[in-house]
Amino acid sequence: MRNRQPINNGWLYKPHFTEEDLLSSHGFDAVRLPHTNIELPYNGFDEKSYQFISCYKNSFQIDKELSHKEIVFVFERVMNHSKVYINGQYVTEHFGGYTPFEVNATPYLNSSDDNTIAVVVDSTERNDTPPFGFVVDYLTYGGIYREVYMEYRSPVIIENVKIATPEVSAQHSTYEIDIFTSAPLDSSYLIKAEILLEDEPIYTHTLPCDETTLFSVNDGFHNTKLWSLDDPALYQLRVQLIQNDEILDEFSTNFGFRTVDFRNDGFYLNGELVKLRGLNRHQSFPYVGYAIPKSAQIKDAELLKYDLGLNCVRCSHYPQSKFFLNHCDAIGLLVFEELPGWQHIGDEVWQENALISIEEMIRRDWNHPSIIIWGVRINESKDSDAFYSKANALAHKLDSSRQTGGVRNFAGSKVFEDVYTYNDFVHRGDNIALEAPQKIAKRKMPYLVTEHNGHMFPVKKFDVEKRRVDQAIRHAKVLDTMYETAEISGAIGWCMFDYNTHKDFGSGDKICYHGVMDMFRIPKYASAVYASQSDLKPFMEVLSSMQIGDFEASELGHVMVFTNADFIKVYKNNHLLGTFYPSTDLLKHLPHPPVIIHDLIADLLELV
Ligand code: GAL
Repeated sequence: MRNRQPINNGWLYKPHFTEEDLLSSHGFDAVRLPHTNIELPYNGFDEKSYQFISCYKNSFQIDKELSHKEIVFVFERVMNHSKVYINGQYVTEHFGGYTPFEVNATPYLNSSDDNTIAVVVDSTERNDTPPFGFVVDYLTYGGIYREVYMEYRSPVIIENVKIATPEVSAQHSTYEIDIFTSAPLDSSYLIKAEILLEDEPIYTHTLPCDETTLFSVNDGFHNTKLWSLDDPALYQLRVQLIQNDEILDEFSTNFGFRTVDFRNDGFYLNGELVKLRGLNRHQSFPYVGYAIPKSAQIKDAELLKYDLGLNCVRCSHYPQSKFFLNHCDAIGLLVFEELPGWQHIGDEVWQENALISIEEMIRRDWNHPSIIIWGVRINESKDSDAFYSKANALAHKLDSSRQTGGVRNFAGSKVFEDVYTYNDFVHRGDNIALEAPQKIAKRKMPYLVTEHNGHMFPVKKFDVEKRRVDQAIRHAKVLDTMYETAEISGAIGWCMFDYNTHKDFGSGDKICYHGVMDMFRIPKYASAVYASQSDLKPFMEVLSSMQIGDFEASELGHVMVFTNADFIKVYKNNHLLGTFYPSTDLLKHLPHPPVIIHDLIADLLELV
């Protein structure tokens, strides 16, 4: 059986590299993964400070009992370009910091106990790899910023497994399993595929082998538990490769029974219309850049679903952690996942690398029920027919069960995708909140707003109250228009939290204050707009400190309360001022319009 061991401890690190470093450990420091190549200040730092070549090394012993197996290292993510050496010999390189890669160490091993793996990590902005080549409004950081595993594998393995669910209903659902092996298998092998629910096998298929590398099962069953937002039932698929009664390899994945469909009149989950209410998420954190562990990935998904009351997230602008996606599956949070890139399209080599990253993303993530659409266009890039016809054909060939989108920022673009996904920054506070879909797409087709607000109104957590309230109102107006307009499937705002950025963007201190939370995920008032639209738990936030010293001429004006309650009662010094209800004219298309309190004195005058 495949034996997988985490290799996150015992690494040596040096923030430089020369050939001698492959042979000597002089000047290296002990580190653990996930690791950032440099600890960064909170703000105001030079983006060049993490752009250098560094070296990581680790020594490993081979378990004698498993020495007949292949030894493969799995790197979850290294930013940006990696060259891997085993025992001083060059083995392979990998381009791009947003997809995993594997290194087969077997031919390079010493017979002795002491083997060394070294990774030379180039964290500069190399022009051969997306998103680089022009400017980028976020930082990409550096280092081996995710986990590494060492695997003992049989010479033949199950490389990947894909499960699609073409027909879905509580009464009867069908599934199609594709199993990919690393080599053709003769009749001495057997493949066993089991469907499990809560760890109990419920269906088992045994497949004879016949000299191919692709094995398929089509079947179905009655009484299916559907994957939904409120009850995201997860099934497991476990596939085993067996020879002479020995399990040579096993591949397990979660999956769900659900249908997803963007139509001209909105997005449907399991045949029911769902308005997508989401935010964009970068994967960064202060000081450590991208090097955040599993617990922090899980926490972000929880914040989006439970604290912000969202049903959708866009992984802007690259595939994100498997821990994040697994948790989106587990809690019922819909995901827009896209390839790495930002506005710029490079030369042929660059485009080839971009297509490779689409393939790596889809093959890695095709079983996640939470993923509802593949973003296969470089975020906000211009039209490029040859490149984007290839990108869409590739995505459709790999996964015919999901539609494609491609995020653009202009109207009337040439469309190879199934959904017109548009960053709509029209709103300036006193004008329309969103453009009409027909005006932008120039045709009738499914339509989704993938960004709004953001740079149109940067707000710091410590800005004066009025500005923080205005940010909230702007987000609310966009949501209101989204709910009002049937053709708009949803709106995914910019963005979940503030982030460090390049000198060309941000507020002079290298921070884009575009979040509804700050960089530490502390909510601003705009968070309350989102949280109050969900019915998962009671929520109320008064968007005012009511400290008159904070207002011009000490005039407090009206106070907005974002809540999912039917009404609220307001007291002053234990005297009931009144009962207040959600607005019936302003923002009235929201599931929960805000309560607006115009009179904070009310009957008090008579009482005192
Ligand atoms: C968009 C871009 C985002 C971010 C945002 C700021 O144009 O896609 O990555 O820069 O603007 O509002």
